Amino acid sequence: MNWKDFAFEQIITDDQSPTLKPIATNGAPTEHMHHRGGAYSESVYIYSPVFDLHAELSGKAFVSVGLGLGYNEFLWSQKTIATQTTLFSFERNPDLQELFVAFLKGELPDGEVKDTYEMVAKFFPPEARENLRNKLGKTLILKTDFSLQSLPNVAVHGFIYDAYSSKVSPELWQEDFLKKMLAQIAADDCVFSTYSCTSRLKNTLIEMNFQVDRIKGFQSKKHSVLARRQEQPEPLLVDQFS
Ligand SMILES: C[S@@+](CC[C@H](N)C(=O)[O-])C[C@H]1O[C@@H](n2cnc3c(N)ncnc32)[C@H](O)[C@@H]1O
Repeated sequence: MNWKDFAFEQIITDDQSPTLKPIATNGAPTEHMHHRGGAYSESVYIYSPVFDLHAELSGKAFVSVGLGLGYNEFLWSQKTIATQTTLFSFERNPDLQELFVAFLKGELPDGEVKDTYEMVAKFFPPEARENLRNKLGKTLILKTDFSLQSLPNVAVHGFIYDAYSSKVSPELWQEDFLKKMLAQIAADDCVFSTYSCTSRLKNTLIEMNFQVDRIKGFQSKKHSVLARRQEQPEPLLVDQFS
């Protein structure tokens, strides 16, 4: 099995972790799933605070938008291994969801695709992979399109917002969508993190009562957004730009 069979090209990023780029069809815009400087490193840098800013993880629910190769699902697994939390992981591309499940279950045939998932898994402790497998369908809930119709019916304490940019997935960055989505499912104590940093996104989060920090972006990227909403706001525990 090769990525070409699924209309993707694999690229090894600077920290030796793999990313995917869709092979363009009909001139539709495409983009790499991660920064070329390091798919694994970028995921850890941008999304760890979604877990680390919570003093207590037990009982909390998280949303990951864009399963892709599953870096953030591995991160969730690693960060929450000793606790009971739930992850709702959204992925529009059914192939990516099926391949990830087949990988966790040990059902992928030898080839490029399996090698890619093996490379991703090697960046995390072996228990993280085992934990994902055990939690699949229980507290790791795989869903398809992220939309107002598909939102989980629980209060969400952390958003790993790793969608493609607004050029490729404009619907996921629209102000009206974000406001309705957050109004529907964001818990009072909630962290929202993304690699993106547009004024529109920041203003939307502020309107939804998040304290928004523009943090240093990953490597060459200028800024990214880390936002938190709390009943009694405290400063975020990260370097801040003014
Ligand atoms: C930047 S990549 C995510 C990378 C991923 N987090 C990882 O760790 O490899 C964005 C992903 O979002 C998916 N996607 C695009 N639109 C979506 C939607 N409306 N709902 C859910 N997933 C979507 C794409 O298929 C793609 O896999």
